[in-house]
Amino acid sequence: MITRKISTALLLIAACIASALPYAAIAQQSKNVSPVAPRRELVEAVVREAYQKFKDDTSGKNADYIPYLAKVDSKLFGIAVVTTDNQVFAVGDVDYSFSIQSISKVFTLALAMNELGADEVFKKIGSEPTGRAFNSPIAVVDMPTHTGNPLVNAGAIATVSLVSGATADEKWNKILDFYGRVAGEKLVLIDEVYKSEAATNTGNKALSYLLAKYDRIYADPFESVDVYTKQCSVGVNTKQLARMGATLANNGVNPATGEQVIKSEDVAHILSTMAMAGLYDGSGGWAWSVGLPAKSGVGGGIVAIAPGKGAIAVFAPPLDEAGNSVKAQKVIDYVSEKLNYNLFSPSSVSLK
Ligand code: DON
Repeated sequence: MITRKISTALLLIAACIASALPYAAIAQQSKNVSPVAPRRELVEAVVREAYQKFKDDTSGKNADYIPYLAKVDSKLFGIAVVTTDNQVFAVGDVDYSFSIQSISKVFTLALAMNELGADEVFKKIGSEPTGRAFNSPIAVVDMPTHTGNPLVNAGAIATVSLVSGATADEKWNKILDFYGRVAGEKLVLIDEVYKSEAATNTGNKALSYLLAKYDRIYADPFESVDVYTKQCSVGVNTKQLARMGATLANNGVNPATGEQVIKSEDVAHILSTMAMAGLYDGSGGWAWSVGLPAKSGVGGGIVAIAPGKGAIAVFAPPLDEAGNSVKAQKVIDYVSEKLNYNLFSPSSVSLK
């Protein structure tokens, strides 16, 4: 009788251990390795294919309203994928440092949310697509929030004005340091880009004053434009940009350093804003065909995020009418289709 009780107890203990094992294994795995990050061989092959397929595409034109950008070699072309388990795949001119431009807006938004909380930022900036060009003063007049969203110039300048700091320099250093933590390495200003843009940014100054008219800028307007101009002039290479994206894909934790840089509760708000406005008036078509939150910059970079899986960054300077790199859009469309990344497709989470 006693032997039977002992063996039943042993059986029960064994069953408990066995049923707990898969969960322990999953918990362990999710700590170190994303269970959904794509396979190395597949990503490598797709990235190479995309590079070959689009390398000779010459459509689009460099931005020229910032004189420096008109002089950048239009043939430069780099693709990088960084997964949430920090695998890196890169082809082409991936070490060339280009100006981050509007992609910076995503990360200043994250910093403002870290400081003020998502609700306060939403109240002060909003998150509605404008349906107009990224630098449109008409949108500032027309939109009920005036700021529109944090990814158009007006909303981005207002977002900079929310970052705390006793002086403009303190704010700028905080922003630069934050971008470095998102990238996992120190980033620096490209001084020539800053000078070129600061000498020609009358349109952004006008936007900042228009915001002041509506009480929708929260620090000195011109000072905020200057810090914004600096943040747009930060240099990144394609691999660094992909890692910045991978930090968002990894719920705010930098996959290389393990630091929780962006609050996990803010990530979905940031990605939804990118999905609606990341490619400006090209965002609807992008969601329709690619289905990933992304952000472009007039320097020629685009980064797209596959939540839980990783990020694709592409650098190629020629842009379309909306200010988005033509080649980068084609590459990301191709790669995300092959890797089954489209968020709106049930098959992206294995439902066939
Ligand atoms: O303020 C500007 O116009 C530029 N520094 C950034 C614009 C930009 O990158 C728009 N993106 N595609």
